[in-house]
Amino acid sequence: MRRITLNGLQLGIVLTSILLAKTGTAEVPVEQLQPATRIAIAIHGGAGTIKKSKFTPEREKAYRAKLSEAVEAGYAILAKGGSSLDAITTSVNILENSPFFNAGKGAVYTYDETHEMDASIMYGKNRNAGAVAGVKHIENPINLARLVMEESVHVMLSGAGAEAFAKTQGVPLVDNKIFDTQHRYKALLRAKKKLKAAEAANKNYQAAHQALDTEFKVGTVGAVALDSKGNIASATSTGGMTSKRFGRIGDSPVIGAGTFADNDSCAVSATGHGEYFIRYNVAADICARVQYQGKTIEQAGNEVIHDVLKPVGGTGGVIIVDTKGNISLPFNTKGMYRASKTSTSNTYVGIFADE
Ligand code: GLY
Repeated sequence: MRRITLNGLQLGIVLTSILLAKTGTAEVPVEQLQPATRIAIAIHGGAGTIKKSKFTPEREKAYRAKLSEAVEAGYAILAKGGSSLDAITTSVNILENSPFFNAGKGAVYTYDETHEMDASIMYGKNRNAGAVAGVKHIENPINLARLVMEESVHVMLSGAGAEAFAKTQGVPLVDNKIFDTQHRYKALLRAKKKLKAAEAANKNYQAAHQALDTEFKVGTVGAVALDSKGNIASATSTGGMTSKRFGRIGDSPVIGAGTFADNDSCAVSATGHGEYFIRYNVAADICARVQYQGKTIEQAGNEVIHDVLKPVGGTGGVIIVDTKGNISLPFNTKGMYRASKTSTSNTYVGIFADE
């Protein structure tokens, strides 16, 4: 007897058609039936020293509202049958356009008092990917990363070259000052004061920078999603590290480090101290554990975030989705701005560790 192996999507079509045939109400041709399948989305607005004591009730409410808006907007696209790529781009745009998070409008300052942003996107269906690094005049870096993926022959473009490509795609270049915010400027001044004090105490540049608190080294936004066709995708966007120098690029535009997606394993977007996420190839390592060791995304994410990164001083977290619509949101910091929604679970919004 010939056996046919059905994936979840095909099984959904078959079961739906059997049910309709049995009840005698089948008026729709089988090929037009919608497959019964799960959709899911998760977003993050960065991990770090996020303490409840630093929030007024109004401020906390505003952050939660923005996270909720971003996850609901992405979910609405999935619910209408839209692609995971469209869903994550929409969610990340909302986070980039908010001054609350370290990306786009809320990007941190470099040592030279400018803003340099990184972003990347990856599609699990075919492992296509696009990234931009060190861009200064792009309002929504994730959109340019997607254009690199879809309209260029390259994966990663940086600095002036990325912006020259943007012009060819009709993307307007904006003044770097549109990313200025008072709270990020104050953070830069605090970071520089600490750096200068550490240098004055005979620490060299490297030691002084390493001594900077976590709050200056983390902050990113991202989204992962599963669409109704069974395709997963991941996107990440950031202003990087406060007081960064010398054209520093973090993990966010590095495929495998800050972003990874493959339908054979999972989709991951990371937030944290980028140097560690690059060295430990975090996003790809989580997916490799799922694919080759048969781990769940929860097991794989916890292992990499808590057992691999934490002991070596790598602070941060990740959001993960798989093709079954499971979601995992591990982090090893005091908090992580995060939200999720799936076709089988209500909207969840979290900021602190214990919720
Ligand atoms: N994770 C963001 C960065 O290190 O640039």
